[in-house]
Parts: sequence; C-alpha cells; structure tokens
Amino acid sequence: MKLNAGGLSSVVIGREKELIQLDAYASLGQHIAIIAPRRYGKTTLVNAFLDQKKDEYLICKIDVFAASTIREFCEIYIDAIYRLDGVKNFVKHAKDNVMEIMGKFSLEYGDVKVGYDLLKEEDENELVRKTFDLAQSISISKGKKLIAFFDEFGDLAKFGQDFIKKLRSYFQTHSNVVYIFAGSQQSVMDDIFLNSDNAFFNFATLMRIGRLSNESIETFASELILGEKISFDDEAIRTLIQSVNGHPFYAMKVLQEGYICFLMENNGESIICAKNIHQAIGKILFDNAIYFETLWQKLNSKKHKGSIVKELAFEGFKGGDKVSLSYKSQMIKELKDDGIIDENKQFFDPMFLKWLN
Ligand SMILES: Nc1ncnc2c1ncn2[C@@H]1O[C@H](COP(=O)(O)OP(=O)(O)O)[C@@H](O)[C@H]1O
Ligand SMILES: [Mg+2]
Repeated sequence: MKLNAGGLSSVVIGREKELIQLDAYASLGQHIAIIAPRRYGKTTLVNAFLDQKKDEYLICKIDVFAASTIREFCEIYIDAIYRLDGVKNFVKHAKDNVMEIMGKFSLEYGDVKVGYDLLKEEDENELVRKTFDLAQSISISKGKKLIAFFDEFGDLAKFGQDFIKKLRSYFQTHSNVVYIFAGSQQSVMDDIFLNSDNAFFNFATLMRIGRLSNESIETFASELILGEKISFDDEAIRTLIQSVNGHPFYAMKVLQEGYICFLMENNGESIICAKNIHQAIGKILFDNAIYFETLWQKLNSKKHKGSIVKELAFEGFKGGDKVSLSYKSQMIKELKDDGIIDENKQFFDPMFLKWLN
C-alpha cells in the first residue's frame, strides 16, 4: 500500500464528515473556501472528493502557486480546460502550432479555435475574461456541471486587488460552475472571503479544516498492514496519537518512518512497537532541524517574540514580564497569522513544539 507523506496522497485518514459536507455544498451549487494551515490536508481532501465525483462533474484543477504572471495563470487555466478532453499541454502544442492535436479533440473545431485565438489575445483584460468564461461555456456545451478547484488561492493576492475583483465579477455569472478554493495563509484567505470590502465577501461558504480526530488516526493505524503482515501494536498507536496531536502530515510521516525504523532493526518480528515510533520521531526532528532552526530564528528576530513563543510552548515559563500586554497580544496575533499557533494558542506543528523542548 502507498504510505507517502508529502506530495500527492491517495490515502485519506478520516475526513468523512468533510467529504459529506463538500458533496452537499457542491450539489447545492454552493462555492466553497477551504482554509487550514499548510500540510493539514486541504489538497488531499479536495482531490479525494473530486476523485469520487469525476463521473458526475467536469473537473478543472488549477494551482495558483504555479503561475507567476496573470497571462501564465490564464494559460494554466486553459490547459486545465482542454485536459477535460484528454488533451495534455494544449498551450504548449498550440504555441508550437502542432495542428495534429486537433484530431484528438472531441470538442468541435470551433472550440479548439477558441483556445488558439485566446492565446493570441494581446489585451490582458480580454484574455482574462475569455479564459475565465470558458468554464461556463464548456459546461453548457457538454451538458454537465463543472467544478473548478483553485488551490493555493491566497496566492492570488500577488496579482493585486483589481484582478481579484475582476475574477469575482466573472465567476458570479457562471451558473453551471461550482468553485472550490483552498488556501493556507489564513490572514490572506480571511481577507479575501471575510472582509466585507473585498470582492469575494459572501461568495463562498467557509470550511475550516481542523486536526484529525484521535479516533480516526487510531482506526487507520490499527487497520494498517504493511509488507509481510506487519502491523502496529496498541502502545505504538497510543504513542503516535500522543505525539502528532491530530496533525495529518505527521500522522502519515510517523507511521511511515516507524515502519522504516522497524525494518532497519530486522528482528524477525512482525509488530511495530512504541520504540519504533520514538525512533521515527527522532528521525523527523533530526531531518527537520534546519527548517525548525530557521523558523525559530525568524520568530526570534522580532523583539520579545521568541520569549513569547517559549512562554506558549512551556507552561510555567515566564519570559514576557517586560512586555506590555498590548504588545504581547499583537505578537500572538502575528503568530496566528503566521500559522504558528491556532485560536487556542496551541502549536500547529507538534514537531516544532518538540524541537523547541
Ligand atoms: N487526511 C489525510 N490522510 C492521510 N494523509 C494526509 C491527510 N491529509 C494530509 N495528509 C498528508 O499530508 C501531506 C500534506 O497534505 P496536503 O493535502 O498537501 O496539505 P495542504 O494542501 O493543506 O498543504 C499529504 O501529502 C499527505 O501525505
Ligand atoms: Mg495544498
């Protein structure tokens, strides 16, 4: 079985309720904005959902992060639209003028021409309008609803507010399209979707994805069988649950590294035990040391921020005596915006917390 942490994941722990929610909203034609810190499984969740729905809807996936200019963003979108017809890299082919690919389309010749002509559009505003209207027109011509998934949507801020406004005004007219947006930068996403001055205010319903429940991690881990009938014992699973605090990425990572540590021991048994989980955590801390060090230095470079982080990390640690209450609450707000701590001042990254220790 596949058990990768990072990258495209086909395994989904838990998230049953979120899948039902997504399905229900989409069937009502409700646009959705998914907000959660990095590596909490937004992309994994939406991919799993879209995979379930691939016969029911036309599906377009666009990674905003991949585009560095508005024109490139449009080209990525055009590619995603043409992929609906099994054509890969339409834009590249069209630019190379590879006319043979036309034969591969089930689209009408006219629709192919739309793509070709679009790429020649020199007026950027026109390019954007025509590109983003493609989703609606293709959905109508194929007689099937379309779901457009924009991943890392918060990154759109790099193209400026005017662009965001424009998109909203086009999306608004698309009766056949359900938009799903996912983003990690909480403050940016909140600003796009919750700020009443902003274009996307009230456009999408918000779904905040939280930690995995301990029960879902337990169910997954206790049913997991790797290699030659190798499984995790109860204490290993307890140690796992206690150390990852519901963090989806680390749940997968610790399971995977625990398995590898077990294999390294090669003691002829078939049970992964708590010791292997501790070894796994040790390895993760070691591998990420440079990342944590850099993160810590960044936090600590701001006056008193480091001591406030420590105060939150270690109960009883008092470092912020010299800090005024208002400065402290400003720093705590920053730590939330940075994606370091959640609403309850709990660290999102359980391994960073261990590293601080
Ligand atoms: N529900 C989940 N079940 C199993 N693994 C998950 C889950 N959510 C996240 N992961 C793991 O964490 C990694 C990062 O998740 P991802 O979906 O890319 O997060 P995000 O999009 O929120 O940054 C994935 O590659 C996968 O290995
Ligand atoms: Mg993602």
